[in-house]
Amino acid sequence: MTYYRTHNLGELRSSNIGETVTLSGWVDTKRDLGGLTFVDLRDREGKTQIVFHTDVADASVVESAQKLKNESVIKVTGVVRERHSKNANIPTGDIEIFATELEMLNACDVLPFQITGEENVSENMRLKYRYLDLRRPKMTRNLKMRHKMIMSIRNYMDEQGFLDVDTPVLTKSTPEGARDFLVPSRTNPGDFYALPQSPQLFKQLLMIAGVEKYFQIAKCFRDEDLRADRQPEFTQLDIEMSFIEQKDIMNEIEGLAKRVFKNVTGESADYIFPRMEYAEAMERFGSDKPDVRFGVELKDLTDIMANCGFKGFKGAVEAGGIVKAVVAPGVAEQFSRKVLGEYEDYAKVYFGAKGMAYIKVTEEGINSPIAKFFTEEEMKAIVERTGAQVGDVIMIVADRAKVVYGALGAIRLRLGKELGLINNDEFKFLWIVDFPMFEYDDEEQRYKAQHHPFTSIKEEDMDMFLAGEMDAVRTNSYDLVLNGSEIGGGSIRIFNPEIQKIVFEKLGLTPEQAKEKFGFFVDAFKFGAPPHGGLAFGIDRWLMVMLKETSIRDVIPFPKTNKGQCLMTEAPNRVDIDQLEELYLETTYNPDMD
Ligand code: AMO
Repeated sequence: MTYYRTHNLGELRSSNIGETVTLSGWVDTKRDLGGLTFVDLRDREGKTQIVFHTDVADASVVESAQKLKNESVIKVTGVVRERHSKNANIPTGDIEIFATELEMLNACDVLPFQITGEENVSENMRLKYRYLDLRRPKMTRNLKMRHKMIMSIRNYMDEQGFLDVDTPVLTKSTPEGARDFLVPSRTNPGDFYALPQSPQLFKQLLMIAGVEKYFQIAKCFRDEDLRADRQPEFTQLDIEMSFIEQKDIMNEIEGLAKRVFKNVTGESADYIFPRMEYAEAMERFGSDKPDVRFGVELKDLTDIMANCGFKGFKGAVEAGGIVKAVVAPGVAEQFSRKVLGEYEDYAKVYFGAKGMAYIKVTEEGINSPIAKFFTEEEMKAIVERTGAQVGDVIMIVADRAKVVYGALGAIRLRLGKELGLINNDEFKFLWIVDFPMFEYDDEEQRYKAQHHPFTSIKEEDMDMFLAGEMDAVRTNSYDLVLNGSEIGGGSIRIFNPEIQKIVFEKLGLTPEQAKEKFGFFVDAFKFGAPPHGGLAFGIDRWLMVMLKETSIRDVIPFPKTNKGQCLMTEAPNRVDIDQLEELYLETTYNPDMD
């Protein structure tokens, strides 16, 4: 009990009838019936109905109540009574407070938007007045869920013997593949810190330091193009363990995932964690994070198309590409040429496909602009291979494997959403394992590490690696996918300095460059490094999927816009010229160039 309250606003029940209580909170809603005013008073825990009536309270109190504006903060004292018309929708619905005293603590000005109700507010307004937005019931729930998630993580990790160790934020560039955020150093003119893209190097050094089981809830910073499930500043649950193999860490993570899932959602998920190789995921779903809540798998038509009469397909196969298809079920009538054109544009614009062909299987037979290029046997083989039934549409893309997977993987997802094939009440975990070590970057025309350069290579692929067969080399790596979202990823690390050296070489780093970037790190491996591995979860993204939110911003208390701006504080912003001078900086940016 404090001066301000004896109870919170979700607490009072019939058993409290007759008690005199003091309550404080925000005016959620007010109804005025002349001499009788009802106020729903709200705090974090709920709402309680307050009645101001001239039978009980002084006329001046009732008058003040009549003038109350929504979202003002008030303190009331009164007696708990049985409620006249009970409200079964809220826990305090059996009682109401007949107020005798009212104190205005802070009167609310004109609101930029209403807090209660389902009124559609633009996201920019919500972000500008985030502290008001966070008062809304859904956002309060999300904050509470985030807290629950973090508490259950900390408890679980502690029980399992992990040490929570924090690592620096002002540090050196880490190799997660995005652009760094840089911070100029005043005391070391011309030098820069980088904000960590993850604590990767530090957590591996902690293994060399003998910590054995490490975790941290860490802020990570990546200057990359933002999407609905990405933020420039996000939070990871970062984990590393020594003296373990891949299966050990995966078991540990499954235990954690079950605990967190249960604590946050209260639901019983499909608690199995099937494992699928990266190559299989790409072939069947065109994605390394497949949503396996629905089918519509990719079917391979490459062999059938190798000698067909359609140049687009035959040519793609001759150039070393592949031809694959997905079947859109039961939409032959529904999908007009225009709709199919939209799917084709989607494949072209976003995934660089040259086109998307389609074949409708109808009662009257095959209906397709490309039907004339195929023999009857070929068409029969296509229909059989795809398993298409009467009423279905076969959608086909031919190109380099990367383009085909990208385009059909996305078309598959779009079909899943638009045709309602996904059961939104279902949660499905999936491990994707054995990612390739290297990935060819078309723009930069060189190989890059697909995960990061400290990922260990599968024993059985070591000969290929040493022989320089970059494309086929697989790693001891694993991503955890939940409903088509990559919620975590990690690997067993290289702990042999010789192998590490060769990886740097294959990535095109000269020994000098490798030393400059990672010298301190590689050196540490000379002094007794245990075998180790780890993983990091994206806490925000995982929570977003569990709460079935569509934007990562709805689970982050103070997120940034797609342009990386904080609309509330107006960061990033210009700074004084003096501040720049102190840092030996000047900007060449010219606003007229925009
Ligand atoms: P990775 O880069 O895969 O691995 O990141 C781990 C997880 O972090 C989440 N994530 C993001 N969430 C929101 N916004 C972003 N911009 C963003 N980027 C990544 C994803 C992802 O699965 N150091 C390694 C881990 C390791 O090897 O142990 C790492 O950071 O959910």
